[in-house]
Amino acid sequence: MGSAAPRVLLVGCGNMGGAMLRGWLAGGFSPDGFTAFDPRLEEAPAGVRLLRELPVGETFDAILLGMKPQGLGEAAPQIAPLAGAGAIVLSMLAGVELATLAGHFPGAGAIVRVMPNLAVALGKSPVGLFAEELSAGQRETVDRLMAPLGQPEWLANEAILHGFTALAGSGPGFVYRFLDALGAGGEALGLPAEQAARIALAMVEGAVALAAQAGESPATLARRVASPGGTTEAGLAVLDHEGAMAQLVAKTLRAASDRSEEMARS
Ligand SMILES: NC(=O)c1ccc[n+]([C@@H]2O[C@H](COP(=O)([O-])OP(=O)(O)OC[C@H]3O[C@@H](n4cnc5c(N)ncnc54)[C@H](OP(=O)(O)O)[C@@H]3O)[C@@H](O)[C@H]2O)c1
Repeated sequence: MGSAAPRVLLVGCGNMGGAMLRGWLAGGFSPDGFTAFDPRLEEAPAGVRLLRELPVGETFDAILLGMKPQGLGEAAPQIAPLAGAGAIVLSMLAGVELATLAGHFPGAGAIVRVMPNLAVALGKSPVGLFAEELSAGQRETVDRLMAPLGQPEWLANEAILHGFTALAGSGPGFVYRFLDALGAGGEALGLPAEQAARIALAMVEGAVALAAQAGESPATLARRVASPGGTTEAGLAVLDHEGAMAQLVAKTLRAASDRSEEMARS
């Protein structure tokens, strides 16, 4: 991607900041475009500049806020001078609203909320994005930065970030539970536990890969694999009885979304 790549400052490079950095490097961005400021990080990936203090008088195309949300108030006064008209502030701070961010960074060229999950490191995360207004150039910079991380999804309003967080941010946890349940179900049918877990993972990986390239809805795919009177149909009847599966998942996402709203208010 070379020298024209955006210059990015990561303020806080822990679990999520580090995962995004790995995603950018794996996606072909040159490491010399990245500066990580983090008091704790011992080592940055090769070629990435690691600072213990914020730089003074430098300009960046994007400043990624990667500390915990509680740390914003204390950190913001030092970051604000770097967030000038040429800089886009990217905030992944869960629950911190645009109005609050705008109060901290009044001179920023733009402020964008970003909601990733850890699969950014593999370029496989849906990334929720919301901004009030962006110029075409700013939008292009954000799209370019987000593309190697997975699937950027611009959202229609800020409140939808709660639902996005439930689906895409907490989603991996729900999938892990389902995987666990599949493994346990296999074990109950006589397969050794480790083998059942391995089979469940391989099966889900294959099923998801097929769904991703099928171009048809999951409902259609489920119908197609369930021959009348067959084994899949017998199992689906249990999941579908009184909408059991659909209701459980809807309730699960609702709980996560409600918690996200609650955290934003506190
Ligand atoms: N993890 C996820 O799945 C996920 C998903 C979506 C959004 N997020 C958001 O991502 C943010 C970071 O989460 P995380 O899990 O990556 O946390 P984390 O692993 O604790 O990383 C935060 C890093 O920032 C450092 N830091 C703290 N204050 C700083 C400051 N003022 N300047 C520079 N660096 C500072 C921390 O150092 P110390 O440990 O010394 O404080 C730590 O190394 C949170 O706001 C969270 O809401 C996380």
